[in-house]
Amino acid sequence: MGIFYDEAQRVFHLRGKDVSYVLGVVREGYLAHLYYGKGIREFAGSNGLTFIKRDFSPSVGIGDETFSLDSLPQEYPQYGNTDFRKPAYQVKGADGTTISDLRYDSHRIFAGKVGLDGLPATYVERDGGADTLEITMVDAVLGLRVILQYTVFEAENVIARSARFVNEGQEALQILKAASASVDFKDSDYDLLTLPGAWGNERQVERAPLRHGMQSVDSVRGGSSHQQNPFVALLGKHATEDVGEVYGFNLVYSGNFEASVEVDQFATTRVILGLHSFNFDWKLESGTEFQTPEVVMVYSDTGLGGMSRQYHRFYQKHLVRGVYRDQTRPILVNNWEATYFNFTEEKILDIAKVGEKLGMELLVLDDGWFGKRNSDKSSLGDWFVNAEKLPNGLKNLAENVNNLGMKFGLWFEPEMVSVDSDLYREHPEWCIHVPNRAKSESRNQLVLDFSREDVRTEITRRMVAILEEVPVSYVKWDMNRHLTEVGSAHFPSDRQQEIAHRHILGVYSVMDAITTRFPDILFESCSGGGGRFDPGMLYYMPQTWTSDNTDAVSRLKIQYGTSLVYPIVTMGSHVSSAPNHQVGRLTSLEMRGNVAMSGNLGYELDLTTLTDAEQKIVKQQIATYKEMRQLIQFGDFYRLKSPFEGNETAWMFVDEAKTECYVFYFQVLATPARPLQFVKLAGLNEAARYQLRGTEQIFGGDELMYAGIKVPTALIGDFQTVSWHFQLK
Ligand code: DGJ
Repeated sequence: MGIFYDEAQRVFHLRGKDVSYVLGVVREGYLAHLYYGKGIREFAGSNGLTFIKRDFSPSVGIGDETFSLDSLPQEYPQYGNTDFRKPAYQVKGADGTTISDLRYDSHRIFAGKVGLDGLPATYVERDGGADTLEITMVDAVLGLRVILQYTVFEAENVIARSARFVNEGQEALQILKAASASVDFKDSDYDLLTLPGAWGNERQVERAPLRHGMQSVDSVRGGSSHQQNPFVALLGKHATEDVGEVYGFNLVYSGNFEASVEVDQFATTRVILGLHSFNFDWKLESGTEFQTPEVVMVYSDTGLGGMSRQYHRFYQKHLVRGVYRDQTRPILVNNWEATYFNFTEEKILDIAKVGEKLGMELLVLDDGWFGKRNSDKSSLGDWFVNAEKLPNGLKNLAENVNNLGMKFGLWFEPEMVSVDSDLYREHPEWCIHVPNRAKSESRNQLVLDFSREDVRTEITRRMVAILEEVPVSYVKWDMNRHLTEVGSAHFPSDRQQEIAHRHILGVYSVMDAITTRFPDILFESCSGGGGRFDPGMLYYMPQTWTSDNTDAVSRLKIQYGTSLVYPIVTMGSHVSSAPNHQVGRLTSLEMRGNVAMSGNLGYELDLTTLTDAEQKIVKQQIATYKEMRQLIQFGDFYRLKSPFEGNETAWMFVDEAKTECYVFYFQVLATPARPLQFVKLAGLNEAARYQLRGTEQIFGGDELMYAGIKVPTALIGDFQTVSWHFQLK
């Protein structure tokens, strides 16, 4: 494990647990990509670079027609000198030209990993856990230095990459594009997997064969978005859930991004991931630096399942932080779908009382407790308690909830301002807008300009005041619209195209300030559900509200798609009422329970209206979840049947030592002449014997995995579910 440099060949070999990433300096300082894939002990160049003359591929310099960047696999490709594929970066010089020519200058290798200035990033707790390579590339004409950062982790199949731009010239430069990573694959025999979606329908799984030309996913919405996730994977043609090669790329960023995959004329594939270059123009003054976000690249030769388990384990240990990182999370009840804006102190306490009786541990007061907020038309920004609704104050309510034996949680939407708010009336210039143009509202609100320090300071001050006064154990940090008329009254004209990124940097800095100041509060990020389910958010907040759609059937796909990248413990999933408020579907409490128990469990319905029979079921769900919580939240996750492929879904959780597992099975619709159904388990110890809890039945691990278990034929009707718990005998 580690980073090995062959000075004679000028080749760097980054060796992780079972992954190798190899790059080298060729000819006059070009940085070539040599290999990325399953770990190899030593790299001697058996797949050597090919230099042949290709018509219409110009040669760099004069004299050697076989050397063109157009056909060289590269590490950080540039624009303007023989490569006609999309570049990883583009910089405009003071003379207005956009050609650049970066050449190897120097490198350093060191133990550990450094943080990225102002940005979320993966980390190691001890230097021995990772090694970092920094390669400095220089364009002497521009006075530009670009430091390419690569970290390889000792116990993981992960490479983390980013780039830092330094202007060492006399004149300002403009960065027009600055990707975090680019990888040139030697072939194009892959499928592309992405996670598109919409509000209430996030992270659906799409897989399609690569074709010649560009295929890309992106967000220009100012948030990483419901519509696409900053994640793409290349899958070998025959890769499945369980076998085959998969390359995952995930950007640690919550704003505009682009992921492009280009298959060129020679059937090679270039993957680029990073900040979106659309409407991006960063003025890099002489002597200043610009740091890109980080890309987390995972290699798996055990299919998508292997990739997901690697991302889960890695994010759990190297991205998520704070006291809750390794702690099981409380089972909460949230009042949003129970009352929406229409609640009283008494109602909240009534819900809390029932919740406590049923075993819930945290009462979350959602939107509507501040300003004059009785609908979504007002008061965002006025973070002072609504005395009409809560005449005895928030502190009193929180204490009363605490006295019932429950923790108290609170909702905020710090990045927003309502037009009807005192804050907006005092500071209309504090929102993101373009002067002399109309401001488009969405959910009756505008976005505060977090690129401004005065805005950040005031919002932080208001939040701190509440969090200091009220005994809050949990905060839901929401964000309910995307950015339009992107501009800032604070910045000059030549910096307006920096605002989308500056805004996100500002959001991160407020999140950093608040989460650092209140280390014992559990934070859950949210953006109209899962509009910012990304690693950037998970760096500050260890869990995310997965979707505003709480329908159990829709959630099968949403949670399945989310689980491709993000750990189970990070996925907030609640039992809500039936008929469901988003899609109107009527599902059983058992189905809703098992789907929600497949993530970070909560409840979001009026508990005071539950019948005795329903209370009994909920109580049992909570007791079961508490028993299984460590396993579900932190165990290894195996997807067994995909909701994208049929009427059934199944998944399971196994502990690291393979001593027990918990399996969930769901059948969406009843079908006539239903075939017998079996679920083949995964991840068990073949040689071990497992007992089915509550029975005397004992099976070998091999039998459970290869013969499978029979789904009870008594599952009659739509929306059926069953679960099994096996323990080592
Ligand atoms: C959107 C969130 O996703 C919901 O859970 C809820 O908090 C509402 N906002 C409140 O306005």
